[in-house]
Amino acid sequence: MTQDQPAPATRTRLKPRTSGERLRQVAILGTGSAAPERVLDNTELEQLVDTTDDWIVTRTGMRERRIVAPGEGASDLAAAAGRRALEQAKLAPEDVELIIIATFTPDRPLPATACYVQEKLGCTHAAGFDLSIACTGFVNALMTADSLVAVGTFRNALVIGVEVMSSVTDYEDRDSCILFGDAAGAAVVGTDSPSGELLDHVVRIDGSGTELIAIPSGGSVAPINADRLEAREQFLRLSGRQVFKFAVSAICDVVSEMITRNGLTIADINCFVPHQANLRIIEAAAARLGIDMDRVVVNIERYGNTSAASVPLALDEAARGGKIKSGDLVCLVAFGAGLSWGATLLRW
Ligand code: UT7
Repeated sequence: MTQDQPAPATRTRLKPRTSGERLRQVAILGTGSAAPERVLDNTELEQLVDTTDDWIVTRTGMRERRIVAPGEGASDLAAAAGRRALEQAKLAPEDVELIIIATFTPDRPLPATACYVQEKLGCTHAAGFDLSIACTGFVNALMTADSLVAVGTFRNALVIGVEVMSSVTDYEDRDSCILFGDAAGAAVVGTDSPSGELLDHVVRIDGSGTELIAIPSGGSVAPINADRLEAREQFLRLSGRQVFKFAVSAICDVVSEMITRNGLTIADINCFVPHQANLRIIEAAAARLGIDMDRVVVNIERYGNTSAASVPLALDEAARGGKIKSGDLVCLVAFGAGLSWGATLLRW
């Protein structure tokens, strides 16, 4: 606007978007995942807090989860998952141009875990950064990589969701400690692939829910001190029941928006890969959307909730296990702290 023109009296709203308008078609070229060897099952949790295997299985669908060994960090899991994805994509580490790590449990607050992963994988020509939006991290990282490759800033990207939830879990809090596990999942994205096409992303945040899932201390407003450690404020706290309700509506809203704006119906989607937070959340959302469970990927019984790793871990297992087939329309859907939620549509 030039200085001569008067400012508009009211702001006009943007028209609703239709499907993605893209410069270059970007696709997933390979996936990989990794989890620590150590298994923490429900029987062991019964020794730590006042809970039972029956309660955990009935209320969550979880039977066991994986926990890192002392000294094992996010970058170790991320590098293992990333290596498998690169092998499947047939991309040499030195040809990787961008590494995005979705995590809120980095190796250390500084530097970025992307730097540790770059070093471990030998990606000698890569840029990289971490992205933090909890369980919706992988969907946001995939969208970011898709955009940066589509405009040509990078020719490919290694996108990894990784979480060491055991480092922020309070094993004295039965409301939350039964839920979480550690893992990583990865995808290599690039161009010139006849399969794995990324079609669209829908992502949202709502800061009115910041208190529902949070780590109270350790950031700039409440740095760690002895009192806060005493109060166990370095650990994650969640309001499970409220998050449960939010999660079911978030999945339904974002999946409905995705299919509507791409001119699809629920029946057109061959496979849903939801965030694995609670089997009852997944089943309730599927029932409300009219999706039969044999189109839904579920591996929660073996890993629990692995936050940013959950969707790419489930995607990798489903793709390698043959549940996702060439040509399938696949919808990834995630939700979590923030509050945040989002979905990705792709053609396998
Ligand atoms: O990825 C995003 C983060 N994920 C989440 O925030 C998870 C979302 N929420 C959930 O998955 C569920 O709300 C939970 C699994 C956390 C809890 O399940 P629920 O069916 O919502 O249980 P509730 O919180 O309503 O608790 C029911 C009862 C309570 O006892 P009273 O008040 O009925 O006597 C709890 O104290 O179950 C009790 N309880 C437990 N009992 C045995 C809570 N945790 C446990 C436990 N073992 N571990």
